[in-house]
This record gives sequence, C-alpha cells and structure tokens, in this order.
Amino acid sequence: MKPQLHSVGPTGALPPSLHPQAGPARHGVPAWIAVGDTEDADQRLEDLRRGLFEPQAHISPKFFYDAQGCALYSAICELAEYYPTRTEAAIFERHRDAIARRLPREVQWIDLGCGDGAKSWPWLKPVAARRWVGVDISPQWLSLSLQGGAQRFSDVEFVGVATDFTRPLQLHHVLGQRPHWPRVFFYPGSSIGNFAPSDALELLHSVRDHLGSDGRLLIGVDGLKDRAILEAAYDDAIGVTAAFNRNVLRVVNRELDAYFDPRRFTHRAVFNREASRIEMQLVSQQAQDVRIGDAERRFERDEVIVTEYSYKYTRESFAALLREAGFGSAQHWSDERGWFHVFVASA
Ligand code: AVJ
Repeated sequence: MKPQLHSVGPTGALPPSLHPQAGPARHGVPAWIAVGDTEDADQRLEDLRRGLFEPQAHISPKFFYDAQGCALYSAICELAEYYPTRTEAAIFERHRDAIARRLPREVQWIDLGCGDGAKSWPWLKPVAARRWVGVDISPQWLSLSLQGGAQRFSDVEFVGVATDFTRPLQLHHVLGQRPHWPRVFFYPGSSIGNFAPSDALELLHSVRDHLGSDGRLLIGVDGLKDRAILEAAYDDAIGVTAAFNRNVLRVVNRELDAYFDPRRFTHRAVFNREASRIEMQLVSQQAQDVRIGDAERRFERDEVIVTEYSYKYTRESFAALLREAGFGSAQHWSDERGWFHVFVASA
C-alpha cells in the first residue's frame, strides 16, 4: 500500500493549513510531513500484542520512547557507564573537518531518528546544508527538532517525516523535491544496533537505494568490547536503565489496555557473545496472570520478556555489512580505545 502524505502540526495534530501539496517548505518556515496511515497504527498494536503472546514474549524497542521514555533515555546518555553517546560525540568533535571533507556540499541532510535534532546541528555549516530532513517515529520529537532547527538556521529548509523505518524507507518523493542537492544520510548513536544483522542489511540497502550517485551515509556503530563494560552500560548502578526498561510496561498498558505491574518485573541486561548483542529483558518476579485487552497471558516465575537487542560490531564486521549492502568505499574513524566506530560510505 502506498503511504499517504499528511501534514502534522507542532502538537502532532493535522492542521489543514500545512499540506505538502501546498508546496515544499519555505525558508525559515518548517514543514511537517507525516508518512503513514491508520492501518499502520493498527498493525503496530497488533504486532505488539502478538509479540507478548508468543512463547518467547517480546516487545519492540520502538515502544520505549513515550515522553517519559525519551526523558529516561536522555538521562541514560549522561550516565558514567553509558559510554556510546559521549564516545561518538568525541569522535565527531575531533574529526569533524576530516569527516566533512568526505561529504558533498550544499546537501540535503537526512537525520534518521532525529530526536531533538541536536546531533545534526554542528554538521549543517561544515556541509553547507540547504535542507534538513528529520525522520522520526515520534511527531513530538519532530516538532521539537523542526522548531529548534528553523530558529538556529534561517537559510536552511526544514522538513519532518514521521515514519517507522523498521519498514523500508520511502523518502524518494520528499527527497526528489530537491533534485540538485546531494543527499547525506546521518544515522548516529548506534541505532542500527537495534536491528538484527539481516534487518540492518535491509535498512542499509534501502538507504543506499536513496543515495544517488554523489550521496553519502554517515553512520555511528558501537564496537564489540569486554562483557563487563557492555553489561554495565546497560545495567547502571543507579537504575536509570532499569527504569527505562520497566517504563515500556506502562506504555504497553496504555497502548493495549493491559495491566502489567512494573514492580513485578526486574531489569536484566546480558551480553550474548555468540550473537554479539546485549539482550535487555524484563524478568517476571513471580508466577502471574496479566490481562492484556480481553485476554490473559500467564508469566511463570523467572520467565523473560525480551525488550531490546543491541548488536555490537567490530570495524571489520561492520565494513563487511556495508559492502554486502552494496556500498562502495568507506572511511572509518574511532576513539583511542576503539570503542565506537564512525563510517562514511558512498554508493
Ligand atoms: C538508542 C538503540 C542506541 O542500544 O544503546 C540504551 C538504546 N537501551 N540503553 C542502545 C538503549 C538501553 C540504545 N540505542
């Protein structure tokens, strides 16, 4: 089914005044565009529900990010144990010019999972960005980043696309509005780590599909390292990640009319070396029957709900994935400890 284009206002509502048919964004005036339709929303809840009733119960990590989940994730990024955000920031800071030299100029800068957009802003000048395209599942985040960006950069065009890119990207229409500006896809924060390698491959393929001949992908990927460091990063001493993990049960309660008691589940993060991933789980503290909509799901004591996988790559394993996705040459940057990897890949 072809996705419909809607405009979404600053509150996530759909004002008729801002419609893509009215033309692309004027400079200094952000345009809100949401891709998707109501069937997607139903499908999303059906998938959530089905996951909870499978023998190995699971919840997609995309449900972490309600307002409280976003706040908790911001707090995670400040934790001493959670190194990825600040390690990546240090690599960007230190190598910004060298990285920018590998990127085209006068670009459309496409921020995948833009959040508040803050990671993009320092790049817009070095690449002389003409247009910023924020892509995020949350209209609330989009609204924030569009307003923040339009205030900072009056000569850049700002466009927001609300879409779930666990499905194939469909940005040809939006990007095609500006055929002369090369495309830089920006996918920082090791968000790619949430995808199983086969799904990551599919997403990378789809990005490559959108690049055009002079486009680039700038991506940050968390590195493989000692178990103790990885597990501490996902199970911090003061329990912020535990709160982040258990908060997803409140989201589920709201979305599915369910009755999970977050106090009856504990947080666990284990590194699975064979699969090269951190596994975040919620462990049932007792045998319990949980009502989910009009059905009940029994959880035995110690039964696990999987909430997130976070895959870790070596420089070589990620370079191989890029090649497999059809990318040509790739440059690489890292920190002194080799904990985090940044790549610029060309079509
Ligand atoms: C947003 C997917 C990059 O996997 O490190 C942080 C999410 N989960 N702590 C990650 C997360 C628990 C994060 N990503």
